[in-house]
Amino acid sequence: MNEMQVAEYLTSRRIWVEEALEKALATASQNMPSGTGVERLLAAIRYSLMAGGKRLRPLLFLAALESLGGKTEEETKSYLSFAAGIEMLHTYSLIHDDLPAMDDDDMRRGQPSCHKQFDEGTAILAGDALLTHCFCCLLASPGKPELLRQAARYFAWQAGLGGMVSGQALDLAAEGQKLSLAALRNIHMAKTGALLAAAVVTGGILAGVDEEERVILELFGYQFGMAFQITDDILDVTGDAAKLGKPTGSDITNGKVTYVSLMGLNGALQEADAATCQAMKTLEPLGDAGELLRGIAAYCLKRDC
Ligand code: IPE
Ligand code: IPE
Ligand code: MG
Ligand code: MG
Ligand code: MG
Repeated sequence: MNEMQVAEYLTSRRIWVEEALEKALATASQNMPSGTGVERLLAAIRYSLMAGGKRLRPLLFLAALESLGGKTEEETKSYLSFAAGIEMLHTYSLIHDDLPAMDDDDMRRGQPSCHKQFDEGTAILAGDALLTHCFCCLLASPGKPELLRQAARYFAWQAGLGGMVSGQALDLAAEGQKLSLAALRNIHMAKTGALLAAAVVTGGILAGVDEEERVILELFGYQFGMAFQITDDILDVTGDAAKLGKPTGSDITNGKVTYVSLMGLNGALQEADAATCQAMKTLEPLGDAGELLRGIAAYCLKRDC
């Protein structure tokens, strides 16, 4: 798949994801308790969720589902509530990541962070709501009940103690500390790799992959996640805040150890490149079914936002 075909795929599926998120919000808002506090909560959720992220995690989920499941477009669309749930969980992680007690960042997705636009309490609750509502959406998806159970359980583990939340704890504890490359790698795998792996693997599970394919998808997800977070570290130094939609220089201000601080800019670029190549190679046994995911990995290495 060439770069243009990958871009076209991502654009078309991004529209699906945006629609699914709108639909999920509309359904939830019709059934929630009413009152001023709830209106504010809902406004904060909408503000952060619909602010135009790249939607990479739901896109990876759809790519894995479509590549390995032999489903028609219409069948794939019926899984969009799962994709929407994935994006909700990711958005919660960003809202909490920006809080003063964490990275204390004032901008996100091109607008003031949730706690800046609203207040800290509302931002914490918006994150809580997105985290919990994620699972309503995952479990509203079709699929064989046993596969859906496995996918939701895996996703919960990867997003929480087995991955992202533990990774964020490691990231916080490492602020201002000296860190080896192995320790930094461990943080990146957990805080970022785990969720990206979860997106790909859950797509695979619902597509009905076998155990061997599941292992390949997980390894790919982590390697891709490494490349993605190293690039994020690089963009925190070299990126354009307007394009990124978030401040640059945040890592230095917070005393974070990053690939750039440990290896320099060129070293970090080489590492991102190497991790992407590894990720693409991992997919080789899948043959043609790995083509779309390979294309997405190559596409993301070149990103500037
Ligand atoms: C930001 O994720 C947090 C990291 C794991 C680096 P994204 O770069 O995917 O953010 P959005 O969703 O596009 O805003
Ligand atoms: C990833 O790391 C954060 C999450 C797991 C949510 P960063 O803290 O570097 O992400 P950005 O740069 O704020 O998006
Ligand atoms: Mg952080
Ligand atoms: Mg941050
Ligand atoms: Mg960052």
